[in-house]
Amino acid sequence: MERNEVFFDENRKSLDKLEKRLDISRREFLQFCATVAATMGLPAGAEAAVAKAVESAKRPSVIWLHFQECTGCSESLLRAEHPTLEKLILDVISLDYHETLMAAAGHQAEAARKSAMKANKGKYVLVVEGAIPVKDNGIYCKIGGQKAIDLVKECAADAAAVIAIGSCASWGGMPSTDPNPTGASSVAEVLGKPVVTIPGCPPNPYNFLATVVHFLTFGKLPEVDKLGRPKFAYGRLIHENCERRAHFDAGRFAMEFGDAGHRQGYCLYKLGCKGPETYANCPAIGFGDAGENNWPVGCGAPCIGCSEKGVGFTKPIHQVARMLNVAPPLQYPRIVEEQGKAASFASAAAVAAIAGAAAGAAVMLTRNLGLSHAAEEAEKARRDAADKAKV
Ligand code: SF4
Ligand code: F3S
Repeated sequence: MERNEVFFDENRKSLDKLEKRLDISRREFLQFCATVAATMGLPAGAEAAVAKAVESAKRPSVIWLHFQECTGCSESLLRAEHPTLEKLILDVISLDYHETLMAAAGHQAEAARKSAMKANKGKYVLVVEGAIPVKDNGIYCKIGGQKAIDLVKECAADAAAVIAIGSCASWGGMPSTDPNPTGASSVAEVLGKPVVTIPGCPPNPYNFLATVVHFLTFGKLPEVDKLGRPKFAYGRLIHENCERRAHFDAGRFAMEFGDAGHRQGYCLYKLGCKGPETYANCPAIGFGDAGENNWPVGCGAPCIGCSEKGVGFTKPIHQVARMLNVAPPLQYPRIVEEQGKAASFASAAAVAAIAGAAAGAAVMLTRNLGLSHAAEEAEKARRDAADKAKV
């Protein structure tokens, strides 16, 4: 019997209840669990463990704060056009305070936040959407008469975990771009300690959901990189998994929007695609759940590096990306060789030379492909320092 069938068999009663409560089929529920497990990079069959945790664990209380932002992160999570996911999200977590979604307003809303924090002291998850203005003593953003800078500190004090959702909360995002008139800062900067970050403008809802489900399934947050980003989602460059990568390697580029290359799906590097310097899983898991290839590059728009500090909203859209690691090969092996003729000394020498160059290129490529995340970051820091020295 397959693991999923065993799970169905053992949990038939609770799944029956779940089906009624969510008004979705158990197949849809398991599909959701499989998607989340795959997003986390868990092996096949792990969806049963995820399903068990989601179905049986007490929903964690979530306090969701909004500061300097456009609410796009919440919009992306709820995706009104797809009610199943919305229902599941609201079933996985107990959203006890969310300024833009809750029915309560004014004093009632603030009372709901305080009572949820008291009832779940040390156990709730704090999610912060938006940057926090710190200039002029944080006067530029107030909620319920309280400054954002104070509110986030108060709510973080007794939280079991803090998640910064979206680029604004993760690293300042759009509000922090030069000249940053309000001193928009990230959650980690304000709290003075690392937090889990899920950057993106907006971030992919599955990355948030997978982070929460990881917390539910394993009792801890997922492994993160030095910027607090879950490695399962931000471990690789977009360029490494892009469906247009073969065109990049072959030197086939769209040169203008709407030209023949653009229409044929060629690489968007020369239109300013920032995939080569942006870490995210957009090409791997798609976006918005609206169908295949639904992510910026898949739709023909260059990646603007919305999740990457120093790239998104900072580098001009037309500027070509800096290649962080994988360079195009210098030579390609010949794939059609003439048959049946004895090689002359000269042609053998030429073939040997080409083979040597190809071997060199392969070594270079292998070396580049093998660079670890840490080595890539060290290389980036070295290049940044060299650029500064030039100025
Ligand atoms: Fe894809 Fe952009 Fe890389 Fe081209 S440059 S392969 S479009 S990520
Ligand atoms: Fe953003 Fe680029 Fe992904 S623009 S959504 S990081 S493809």
